[in-house]
Amino acid sequence: MLRVFDMFSGFGGFHQACEKVGMEIIAYCEINKWAKKFYNQAFNTEGVKCFDDATKINTRELPNFDLLCAGFPCQAFSIAGKRQGFNDTRGSLFFEVARILKDKRPRYFVLENVKGLLNHEGGKTFVTIIKTLSDLGYNVEWALLNSKYFGVPQNRERVFIIGYLGKRSPGKIFPIREITKSNNLENKKETIIYWKNSKEKWVEEQKNYVVTIKTQSDLCRQPLIKIENKIRKLTPLECFRLQGFSDEVFNKGSQGISDAQLYKGAGNSVTVNVVYEIVKKVEVNKCGE
Ligand SMILES: C[S@@+](CC[C@H](N)C(=O)[O-])C[C@H]1O[C@@H](n2cnc3c(N)ncnc32)[C@H](O)[C@@H]1O
Repeated sequence: MLRVFDMFSGFGGFHQACEKVGMEIIAYCEINKWAKKFYNQAFNTEGVKCFDDATKINTRELPNFDLLCAGFPCQAFSIAGKRQGFNDTRGSLFFEVARILKDKRPRYFVLENVKGLLNHEGGKTFVTIIKTLSDLGYNVEWALLNSKYFGVPQNRERVFIIGYLGKRSPGKIFPIREITKSNNLENKKETIIYWKNSKEKWVEEQKNYVVTIKTQSDLCRQPLIKIENKIRKLTPLECFRLQGFSDEVFNKGSQGISDAQLYKGAGNSVTVNVVYEIVKKVEVNKCGE
């Protein structure tokens, strides 16, 4: 059974996907108290080592593991943020990932970040990231994947960077085949209303997917839906469903957490279905080394 360190664990997107393929979460790290509350309520974390601040992890206290998962904080790279990159501590948290990889040498890692990481500083930031990971001795591959092709009706493009030790073997993890060219709402278009920043106006469209779920809960940030001439925000449960969370996980995890924190958690999360396809390949390939 592959052992996983869930770094920057948030509301547990990686956790669910890894558990679904039979991996064991042996430790997680998260600084936000609401994310930790959700995680502890939703999952059985008994015996799972918990770290708060990633910058303070003493790797001697971290048990050995085979796979590091991390959606390292991305505000510094996203177009929604100020694009400070490595000058911002949230951007430099990538180097905490590198530090853990250097000290613990897990066989695999799966990292996730916003699409804006690819062209930040004219691509220099991304090159630094790939070079840092390669210099640690990992075979590194990356792909831009859209959640809407993985069984959830949400347009969400994210960069996934994977690495593995040992002999390079193309096709081992990437390319990942999109599981569908359609999504749950294929035959059922809904009226989606959203604020288009570039045009500075509200746009109403018939779509079979919603725009990217964001972290802020105000009207301009979240997609709205119009049903029988009534316009409403998506509920927190709907946002988590759009990230591939099960209702059971949401119902357990969300107890005593405000809607504002839940919207933030959903917007920050990784889409479970996309990670599932990646870690499934890691799991299948683990013996062929
Ligand atoms: C992009 S989110 C990752 C979400 C996660 N992949 C999920 O599925 O919910 C980044 C997370 O890193 C956490 N974080 C930020 N700085 C941190 C630090 N210094 N140590 C630990 N966690 C941190 C944030 O609270 C946030 O939950």
